[in-house]
Amino acid sequence: MAELEKFEGPATIEKVASLCRRRAFVFPTSDIYGGLGSSFDFGHYGVLLNQNIKGEWQRSMIQERDDMVALDSAVIMNPQVWVASGHVEGFSDPMVDCRTCKLRFRADQLDQSNCGKRPSKRPGEDAQCDLTEPRHFNLMFETHVGALRDDASVAYLRPETAQGIFVNFKNVTSSLRVKPPFGIAQIGKSFRNEITPGNFLFRVREFEQMEMEFFVPPADADSWHQYWIEQRVSWHTGLGVRPSHLRVRKHEADELSHYSLATSDLEYLFPIGWQELEGVANRGDYDLRQHSQHSGTTLEWIGHEERYVPYVIEPALGVGRAFLTFLCDAYDEEVVADRPRTVLRLHPRLAPVKAAVLPLIGKDTAMVEQARGLYVDLRKSMSAEYDDAAAIGKRYRRQDEIGTPWALTIDEQTLADGTVTLRDRDTLQQERIPIDGAKQLLLDKLEQPWLPRT
Ligand code: GAP
Repeated sequence: MAELEKFEGPATIEKVASLCRRRAFVFPTSDIYGGLGSSFDFGHYGVLLNQNIKGEWQRSMIQERDDMVALDSAVIMNPQVWVASGHVEGFSDPMVDCRTCKLRFRADQLDQSNCGKRPSKRPGEDAQCDLTEPRHFNLMFETHVGALRDDASVAYLRPETAQGIFVNFKNVTSSLRVKPPFGIAQIGKSFRNEITPGNFLFRVREFEQMEMEFFVPPADADSWHQYWIEQRVSWHTGLGVRPSHLRVRKHEADELSHYSLATSDLEYLFPIGWQELEGVANRGDYDLRQHSQHSGTTLEWIGHEERYVPYVIEPALGVGRAFLTFLCDAYDEEVVADRPRTVLRLHPRLAPVKAAVLPLIGKDTAMVEQARGLYVDLRKSMSAEYDDAAAIGKRYRRQDEIGTPWALTIDEQTLADGTVTLRDRDTLQQERIPIDGAKQLLLDKLEQPWLPRT
């Protein structure tokens, strides 16, 4: 099938960002002070969606495997870590400044940037543009540790979580029953002083990463690399990302990071075009060798009859980039009974709220009592909401906009025969089910495979 060139669906980055703000997923940070470029705060539903994304990653990476262990390393580490990893020397982007408009651009992305004075043109295209020669700009945020602010106290906020894993290789192999091939998985914040952040959550300066370093015998590295590319594609499509909007792109030799022997990006067709969603790299033995050399501690695998420096396969994904992908993919608009509706067709396991419990008449004490009872029982096992304000149609629409897959409505008939209406967010079909079996039914549905468009 020919590859798509244009995003299919009504989502734009602006519409998704607007819904996120309106429905308490994401707010611009320190808004009342005018914000801080490309930094965001997560609101109630954003926190829940983020937790679900991370939970699904942990479930597939750690819980459902027996060759993986977890780690949570420090954000601020010994600065020698970043000397050894090559970040102090080489984690930089080429940038140019325009002396006329005073803006700064990435030299390798001028064809995607806009001139500060004439936004319809690219930097350098207008007669008034006066660009400097490209200079290297290190993306690491610097800070100082301790009371003195001098060169000796400089430290860095980590720009990737991966190095925390490499420097713990010895701790992990000597304290846990692991043996290559095995992996160490971690989720945590990373910081990069990006020159051109933008497109909402796509490129920001403070973000969470989900990274896993898989240590393998060198001879097996290529096949494990392929294995992890395939695993990661199925993780995304299993959580509802349309396969037509996902592709794997192998890096050309001149694109490879300094540590990489081979990298393939999983790219998603965002409304702004095909862009990197996740990278899967074969880092070879670069990191373990660098840290062995710089720390003086040999980092290698010593088995009964073998001794070698493992190669590392690394799938690395940004939580926020996955968040944006799932939202763009799920965002839909349609007209139902002459009324427009916006709906997030999120995979039920990702949905911030799994079930809404709604008494048909909010002032009917018997209905309210039944509804509250069901809600209190449901929320022991899943994220649920109770809502008795406004007309029922309005309450459904609100739940559609936050992606709640199921609504349970308590009405007259419930009081008579103990059944409730189960409304499906995607098909809008309603069926009557016994109130007693409702919780188990939803728990079973959460375990079933789910297709993004029915
Ligand atoms: N340890 C390897 C590494 O960090 P990367 O390609 O620089 O590789 C991995 O980052 C993933 O982290 C990216 O594919 C993307 O999902 C996410 N990411 C990187 N920089 C980001 C940024 N500035 N904002 C949001 N997400 C980012």
